[in-house]
Amino acid sequence: MKRILPLLLALSMCFVLAACGNSENIETAGTAGQTALEEESPAATEESETLDEVQKTEESNIQQTEDVDTDGTKILVAYFSRTGENYSVGYIEKGNTHIIADMIAEQAGADTFEISTVAPYPDDYDECTEVAKQEQEENARPELTASVENMADYDVIFLGYPIWWSDMPMAVYSFLESYDFSGKTIIPFCTHEGSGISSTESSIAEVCPDTEVLEGLGIRGSIAQNSQDEAKETVEGWLEEIGTFGQE
Ligand SMILES: Cc1cc2nc3c(=O)[nH]c(=O)nc-3n(C[C@H](O)[C@H](O)[C@H](O)COP(=O)(O)O)c2cc1C
Repeated sequence: MKRILPLLLALSMCFVLAACGNSENIETAGTAGQTALEEESPAATEESETLDEVQKTEESNIQQTEDVDTDGTKILVAYFSRTGENYSVGYIEKGNTHIIADMIAEQAGADTFEISTVAPYPDDYDECTEVAKQEQEENARPELTASVENMADYDVIFLGYPIWWSDMPMAVYSFLESYDFSGKTIIPFCTHEGSGISSTESSIAEVCPDTEVLEGLGIRGSIAQNSQDEAKETVEGWLEEIGTFGQE
């Protein structure tokens, strides 16, 4: 089993490449490019946030970003992201999706919320793939460490996650099922290494039937981690495309 995921990823990439043709590093709805297997690269952990803009409330996992005019729209960036050893990037101290989440929050003037599980995932990549596979097979709903007390206040939720076995981590389902998102807008974004955003947009729409789910952003985790200028440009372009959130 330990050696199966790279093969599945490679197959999945071939499939997506065949289906969608070549693409840039940014994809919506399942486009993907090529990836290098087992590429060793040092983690890039540049923080884009400035301390005076961000005030962290540890107990709730919420960070409040200020000083961006959102015309009264209250925006939350909720994301799941894992540190430790990962595919193509080596050992990382800030998760790929977390990096993108912070970029979106800074641009959109959004608060952030980290979706984290009571039972941590293994740092070891292969072990993590096994745990994730088992959770997926069991349709598990891992217990989360914190909740968004004031979810009713938010109009727009950017929802970020890594692609795990072509789907969202089961913890993201735990999160989605914990709130009533009726009347709100969810904007998905993911990091991946070949699967693109897969069918996760429709999975979100299934779980949240009375919610507007916009077309999401898929970006390679290795770009997020190692080419942050490129990632930021991509994020900014995407935000411009989808709306008017807090562009300065
Ligand atoms: C358990 C697990 C399963 C994964 N499955 C896939 C997959 O099916 N398709 C894919 O493109 N990438 C897959 N990946 C790679 C991650 O999506 C990618 O490294 C992502 O950027 C990790 O984000 P994070 O650092 O925010 O957790 C998987 C990674 C892990 C740990």
